[in-house]
Amino acid sequence: MRLKDKVAVITGAGSGIGKAIAHRFADEGAHVVCASISGRSADVAAEIGDAAVPVRADVGDEADVRRMVGTAENTFGRIDILVNNAGFGGGLLPLHEQTTETWDRVHGVNLRGVFFCMKYGIISMRRTGGGSIVNVSSATSLVGWKHHGVYGAAKAGVNQLTRTAALDYADDNIRVNAVCPGTIWTGLVPMSQQWPEPPPGVSRVPGIPMDRWGLSDEIAAAALFLASDEASYVTGALMPVDGGYSVGFSGMGAEKQGRSTD
Ligand SMILES: NC(=O)c1ccc[n+]([C@@H]2O[C@H](COP(=O)([O-])OP(=O)(O)OC[C@H]3O[C@@H](n4cnc5c(N)ncnc54)[C@H](O)[C@@H]3O)[C@@H](O)[C@H]2O)c1
Repeated sequence: MRLKDKVAVITGAGSGIGKAIAHRFADEGAHVVCASISGRSADVAAEIGDAAVPVRADVGDEADVRRMVGTAENTFGRIDILVNNAGFGGGLLPLHEQTTETWDRVHGVNLRGVFFCMKYGIISMRRTGGGSIVNVSSATSLVGWKHHGVYGAAKAGVNQLTRTAALDYADDNIRVNAVCPGTIWTGLVPMSQQWPEPPPGVSRVPGIPMDRWGLSDEIAAAALFLASDEASYVTGALMPVDGGYSVGFSGMGAEKQGRSTD
């Protein structure tokens, strides 16, 4: 029960990684506000039961975000944890084929949405003595990632919001960290549908040192650590959870060249 009686707001909680985080946090004793642009967060809140409330909110809409924070405060009295998970990919294309419309949509949710949520979450946390923010960034923000320029730029912006806010609010007892997922299999949801491979256990993932998909629960475990008091001296960290992808190139080892490893 690492989050016993904490109040956590999770955006994009209706599916994938956000859904896994909502369940894991509730299992660890938190009250959870399950926010999403779709009605699916209501299903997740219903699965969790009394410890959860759903909120319909578009994180790219400032008024919606204020309402989301207000709902958390009115329902549970405060916000201890904010997980900024809502986001989407925006198409895998080289830059010259990307459109201004895609740039605006991707950055409107993945970066501006995180800004709105951080802003109003921080205002709330400062009133009640502090808290912990976990931003769901991406391994595409840490290294170049082919055809992910627009999305990776938004997530790199999230990293910089994370580090800067860690400095700005250390005195306010607010820790701010990010988890940077790699290729995470989330089931039949938009993000992982971008990739053609079947789920873990069936497929290997070329180019990933650990040679497999990650799982939503593995991101939830990292988010749990960063959100909890176990990370009480951790702020401004960008934690890759990517099977080693962002560490560096791993394609030319002796075994892969067919040479002896003795
Ligand atoms: N799956 C991966 O491989 C992967 C890798 C790196 C980073 N991520 C990041 O993880 C996060 C979750 O992705 P996922 O894979 O679980 O995808 P997903 O599509 O299952 O989940 C995203 C959720 O965000 C919600 N959402 C989208 N736009 C929203 C908005 N404007 N306001 C509120 N909610 C909105 C969607 O309804 C959905 O429930 C995203 O930020 C994504 O960029 C995912």
